Amino acid sequence: MDPVLTLQAELARARAEAAKWERAYRALHDQPAVRAMLAARRTGVQLLHKVASAKRAAPAPAAGSGGAKGSGGAKGVATAPFGVPFRAPAGTSSTIVARLDPAIGERRFQAFDAVLRLFPTGRVVDLGTGHGLLARRAADAGWQVTAVDARTERFPSDERITWVHQDIREHDLSGYDLILCLGLFYHLTLADQLDLLRRAAGKPLLIDTHVDVGIQYPDDRLGDSGEQDGYRGRLYGEHLESPLASWVNEASFWPDLDSFYRMLADHGYPVTLALEPWYQPERTFFLALPQPS
Ligand SMILES: C[S@@+](CC[C@H](N)C(=O)[O-])C[C@H]1O[C@@H](n2cnc3c(N)ncnc32)[C@H](O)[C@@H]1O
Repeated sequence: MDPVLTLQAELARARAEAAKWERAYRALHDQPAVRAMLAARRTGVQLLHKVASAKRAAPAPAAGSGGAKGSGGAKGVATAPFGVPFRAPAGTSSTIVARLDPAIGERRFQAFDAVLRLFPTGRVVDLGTGHGLLARRAADAGWQVTAVDARTERFPSDERITWVHQDIREHDLSGYDLILCLGLFYHLTLADQLDLLRRAAGKPLLIDTHVDVGIQYPDDRLGDSGEQDGYRGRLYGEHLESPLASWVNEASFWPDLDSFYRMLADHGYPVTLALEPWYQPERTFFLALPQPS
């Protein structure tokens, strides 16, 4: 087939896909639970707001939690405690980003800049940097930036930044003043999330992530709520072929808010600040502050 025609067909398909995502995302915002959440948050100011000083709790191992344990070994689908063999439907991968309204993207960038301004500049690592746009904003703000990703195809060319082609689970986190985990946490298994928290301990950690707030995600990729190693949440089915996806695991863990704060508290982060208002119904920036030494 004529390559131009192929490209045109591909573009038409991508546009249709983007429109589908936009509709789905609007439908998400229209759910009563989401409207109520948004209304509540609209009263919030765009400031970091102390939301949690979660009590430390030793998570009891969940019965039958055969999911991934220990560092770095979290491959495959952890089905046992959730009771659902969870798989992402095929297709819809690379255009998924189209669902994010550009205005939301811009708000996200501004929120990120505002959080960075809370700190004196220093050495920062951007884990799962992807397109590297946030790493570049940190460099613009005067930070010395290392950006890490297991996929390099979206690395921009920017000589101010040290670009590292690596699985974030293997990256040594010592030597940084601030750790960024933006758009990555919800692509990790629970075991890898906990391992990351252990390795980051002692450093401020900025996590921009979806959490399970009990709302339906448009593409049905969230499984039922369940418990794993004492933390409640849902499994998220990955499209591993997407450049935005998890690097290895077919299902990632989205903790509910309470479990998320508890995970942090249990791993040396007793106080977490959430950026209000959330820039998506189920997603915001969380600044986890280490236990003062
Ligand atoms: C949704 S993108 C986030 C990009 C960017 N940080 C942002 O927030 O816009 C997730 C990125 O994490 C990367 N990633 C996922 N799992 C990873 C792993 N185990 N090691 C390294 N990179 C990983 C993916 O390759 C992808 O570039």
